[in-house]
Amino acid sequence: MSYPRIASKARLVRDRHEGGLVLVYPERGLVLDETAADVARRLDGSRTVPAIVEELVALYGEGAREAITSDVDELLASLASRGLVTWSDTPRSPCDAPLPAPRRASRGGAPRPFTLVAEVTHRCPLACPYCSNPVELVSREGELGEAGFAALLEQAEDLGVVQVHFTGGEPLARRDLEALVARAHGLGLYVNLVTSGVPLARERLEALARAGVDHVQVSVQASDATLADAIAAHPSHAQKRDVLRWVKELGLPLTVNVVLHRANLHEVDALVALAEEASADRLELANVQYLAWALENRASLLPSAAQIDAAAARAAHHKARLRGRTDVVFVKPDYFERSPKACMDGWARRFVHVAPDGLVLPCHAAASLPGLAFERFDPASGRTLRAIWEENDGMRAFRGDAWMLDPCRSCSERGKDFGGCRCQAFALTGDARRTDPACPLSPDHALLVRAREEADRAEAPAGVRWLHRGRAAVPR
Ligand code: SF4
Ligand code: FES
Repeated sequence: MSYPRIASKARLVRDRHEGGLVLVYPERGLVLDETAADVARRLDGSRTVPAIVEELVALYGEGAREAITSDVDELLASLASRGLVTWSDTPRSPCDAPLPAPRRASRGGAPRPFTLVAEVTHRCPLACPYCSNPVELVSREGELGEAGFAALLEQAEDLGVVQVHFTGGEPLARRDLEALVARAHGLGLYVNLVTSGVPLARERLEALARAGVDHVQVSVQASDATLADAIAAHPSHAQKRDVLRWVKELGLPLTVNVVLHRANLHEVDALVALAEEASADRLELANVQYLAWALENRASLLPSAAQIDAAAARAAHHKARLRGRTDVVFVKPDYFERSPKACMDGWARRFVHVAPDGLVLPCHAAASLPGLAFERFDPASGRTLRAIWEENDGMRAFRGDAWMLDPCRSCSERGKDFGGCRCQAFALTGDARRTDPACPLSPDHALLVRAREEADRAEAPAGVRWLHRGRAAVPR
């Protein structure tokens, strides 16, 4: 007999805005319909699948047995594919803790964001050449203070957010991080700490866990220490190995995140071994996406098609082997996808991103788009996050599909991929309204094809020069 339960990295939360349940996990949240919510509530490791079906048949009636059985199987398969369910051979005590009740009635009005990406600082001791921070970094003096970020968290929760990623730069560079985590936790938000683990003492990680961190994502640059430290331009790999151990010793769910590129794609087997040794719940092998610093370094970072194919095959092998233990996720670069990604799940639709200086954005790279006047959140101004989210011209610029040009405007996929990534369209074509060149239907697709062909012809990574974030070019 096997007893399914929701994986420790995920949490069921009551959505006080729309009334239902949301299963929140590090990457995002799943809004559950009524039946799925009834199943999910019973995934606490105390019941077998047949027992769950019997309980639901008692609730909905014998006539619904077939539909319920299929719904339960379908939900479990969907959760398993995201690494959101674990199985044990012995039952646990039922978890009767009530979910927090809705505190206020839904206000309606769509879209509402589910996730706040709080980029609390751009400061970071590392200088990775693919950093997703903008090329123009916000200085320490320009950062929103603790009171500002605390007010932002409150207003984000009021707007509909159920999850916050504390990220940077390196969020540990802020001394008030514990206070911000405690504030988010107190508001009922799922707290994901996205960190390089540098600098961090075990006592501080304990304090962050006590403050309410739900999940920790630690970046690792490579499995080989020399290579990892060269990529980060900082001797940090040994420290990161300690942090990985501490996270699990403290009972926190762990994602190991590795940004893949030309110089480390050959390491997939070793990176999986590292994640296994760390008992990671999730290993995210996310290839570089070519914006900001990564675009500056594209010639050195973009891999060949053969490298991508070989790495993807190894990742698929390990994903199958580790199913139920470590969720191995391999994300291709857009340059090698057959269709564009729905970047950020659509512009200013599900994610609200706030830069260290309080600038409210739809994504980390949007500040670089010319002609879009984004606004800073500043509690002293009286202008609320809701007003900025709903009214700011930059946030509204690419919402929905009214802005689209052909071929997106008449394409049946436009409601799924939202025309791809606006920042990539701008970075490659100079016009953010154009179809993402990652789309084979884009008139600009040849730009990516040419870049891929150049990568296929490029020399081995040994001779590459990287422009490290915030520094002059450094030979590796
Ligand atoms: Fe998506 Fe636009 Fe390409 Fe259609 S044409 S698949 S909407 S990016
Ligand atoms: Fe800005 Fe894709 S990163 S829309």
